[in-house]
Amino acid sequence: MPKQSTSPTAYLNGRFVPLDEARIPVLDRGFIFGDGVYEVIPAYSGYPFRMEQHLKRLQSSLDAIKLVNPMTSAQWGRLVKRMIALNAGKDQAVYLQVTRGVAKRDHAFPAEATPTVFMMSNPMSVPARELVTRGCACASATDNRWLRCDIKSTSLLGNVLMRQRAAEAGCLETIMFRDGFLSEASSSNVLVVHGKTVAAPPNNHLVLPGTTNDVVIEIVRKARIPLQLREITEDEVRSADEIWLTSATKEVLAVTRLDGKAVGAGTPGPVFRRVYKLYQNFKRTVMRRG
Ligand code: PDD
Repeated sequence: MPKQSTSPTAYLNGRFVPLDEARIPVLDRGFIFGDGVYEVIPAYSGYPFRMEQHLKRLQSSLDAIKLVNPMTSAQWGRLVKRMIALNAGKDQAVYLQVTRGVAKRDHAFPAEATPTVFMMSNPMSVPARELVTRGCACASATDNRWLRCDIKSTSLLGNVLMRQRAAEAGCLETIMFRDGFLSEASSSNVLVVHGKTVAAPPNNHLVLPGTTNDVVIEIVRKARIPLQLREITEDEVRSADEIWLTSATKEVLAVTRLDGKAVGAGTPGPVFRRVYKLYQNFKRTVMRRG
């Protein structure tokens, strides 16, 4: 009798398949050139969180690389929900990727190619209580990535090298500075707090417009916490009372050490603790509504 696959269920070009059986041709431009874009959508208790915003950012990324969206938002939405239903785990991170498809290797776009659509879902655990209450350590580096960091591209070598630098230093993330100003971290956005004021870099071509960052900014505004969206100098980061990371899988997390030095008092600060609580409340309210 054939062995039942225990592999998670993936989606590839119109078919649901066990993840370990999903195959793409080697000439896929995603494989050859990193010519594709992606999204990571968190799902809590079976419901995707901020899906509309993720699908909007997907559209922006596709527009930026001149690739026609192979599906409508309604089709994406149905597919994401189906992926969640087909996979185990109370909380999941749905990964979706669209590449320019399979074609003879040539840098210029192929005249005809069908985009490859791939999706998988991994069990997701929100940051452990311990990490939330203690905060995390980060390294820092000069941002040497390209100048279109607003595109959620699968060409992630710059981010991979930055994240590896953090891993080798026993840190969670590498916070990056370009020309003396804060950009973002290897796979998250960064906010800082001085006194009671929260500051975040504006959305431009140097950072990914984070969906979690947007939620945090909404929360900060609603709570009437002073907020500045502006360029932030490296000195301001290094002298901050609090530094926060945001991402779909990290939610909002305090950085309590930067390059081995304590950030502020070396523990998650009061503004972080307040916003973290508000974030969890926001999530619960949204999820209750379904
Ligand atoms: N990364 N900046 C970068 C470079 C990122 O890779 C990410 C997310 C973010 C935060 O975006 P969001 O809040 O929408 O997740 C910012 C995802 C989680 C990843 O690549 O796995």
